[in-house]
Amino acid sequence: MEKIKVIVFEIFPKFGKTLIELLKSIPFVEFVENDVNNTEEALELVYSQKPDVIILGNDFPGIDGYYFTQIIRQEAAPTQIIMIAEMASAESVRQAMRAGACDFISYKKLSVEELTLALEHAGKLVSEEKKTKVLSKEKIEPAPQKQIKPAEKQPAKTIAVYSPKGGVGVSTITANLACVLAANDNKVLVVDADFLFGDMEVLLNQRSNNSIADLVRYKDNLDEDVIKIVITHGKVDLIAAPSTAEESVEITGPVFEKIFSGLSNLDYDYVLINTGSYLSDSTIMALDKAETLILVGTQEISSIRALHMFLNLIGTLRIHPEKLLLVINRFENNAILTKDRLKKRLEMDVSHIIPQDYGTVLLANNLGVPFVTDKIKLPISQSIIELANIIKKGNVNKFPNIAKVFEKAKKSLTITRKKKS
Ligand SMILES: Nc1ncnc2c1ncn2[C@@H]1O[C@H](COP(=O)(O)OP(=O)(O)O)[C@@H](O)[C@H]1O
Ligand SMILES: [Mg+2]
Repeated sequence: MEKIKVIVFEIFPKFGKTLIELLKSIPFVEFVENDVNNTEEALELVYSQKPDVIILGNDFPGIDGYYFTQIIRQEAAPTQIIMIAEMASAESVRQAMRAGACDFISYKKLSVEELTLALEHAGKLVSEEKKTKVLSKEKIEPAPQKQIKPAEKQPAKTIAVYSPKGGVGVSTITANLACVLAANDNKVLVVDADFLFGDMEVLLNQRSNNSIADLVRYKDNLDEDVIKIVITHGKVDLIAAPSTAEESVEITGPVFEKIFSGLSNLDYDYVLINTGSYLSDSTIMALDKAETLILVGTQEISSIRALHMFLNLIGTLRIHPEKLLLVINRFENNAILTKDRLKKRLEMDVSHIIPQDYGTVLLANNLGVPFVTDKIKLPISQSIIELANIIKKGNVNKFPNIAKVFEKAKKSLTITRKKKS
């Protein structure tokens, strides 16, 4: 068997020592020593050493181990991660697998046999991933004489609009942004995932006989044709929120996850998700899965406080900071919280501002005619058009560089696990 380069990140010496001794006794292991004691340095080491396998202690200091795993798998594949903890609870194993770890072992059951099996499996995955990488590279680079085939249809870009505090303009922005994107020949679907108080039907004046709740009974068979049944066509296409509270509770996190995956098979350029502020399983899932997350706030202290708390949570929720677009709605130039002050307070750039225009928004929302459709010249409409341009340009960076990603994640994480002595 080919040698496997292994790095261990473990903070507890009593565990680390046993683990390393066992690893050194496995003939196919090429063990890389390190004295790293936080995830920031760990990432640098992974970058320079390019190990095949990382064995990661569950309590390693720095960013959350699951989030760390996710970053490694997205940025440094084919490197595999085996997580290790004193005990392997069903929940921790599930979270590790969802983050992309290939195995989870517990110190309680640690033995050479167990470790050998886990490493053999990880080694196999590394060579498979290396092979697919080579194959896909060959596919991507066309022979110079051949004609380039027309590009395949890209899957829809998913954009979630969210605020940890209600009443700041999430629905207003979703409805208007959807109309601007649709006006440029794009196919746009709005999904009202504010299951309890969704208002997209009202704001778009698109009454629907169906709602997302109708998909619950098809949860084991959610193909495109089934999803299409509940879509209403109008200014934009819409999957409406349920009309009763009873129906809304039926859409659990796992059910919405299935619906969400089904959406990517539909023929849309953009899927916009209107969310409620309560962090239910479904909302967390949508924020996690969406490619872009428009985070909405206002210049009110209560909104900024909620945003601050939410930003502290994103590491734990495994929401990638690079996909965030911070939009301050109802913006007033003479307010105390200027853009610079907001940036300082939230440790994050304000990506965009939307001006306060009470009369226009009130009328548009009550009539169900988004202001961008008939009051295009107004500053508020122009600001939504600019927001659509930001999204179309795609300058929400997708994992541009691991160090930058980490820097932001680290800032957002206040809960650094304490070293046990
Ligand atoms: N830019 C704005 N200027 C003035 N009023 C606004 C603006 N955006 C939203 N509103 C008002 O704020 C309230 C909440 O908006 P809504 O879109 O329903 O927020 P959310 O979905 O976050 O609860 C509504 O009364 C709406 O008319
Ligand atoms: Mg709303």
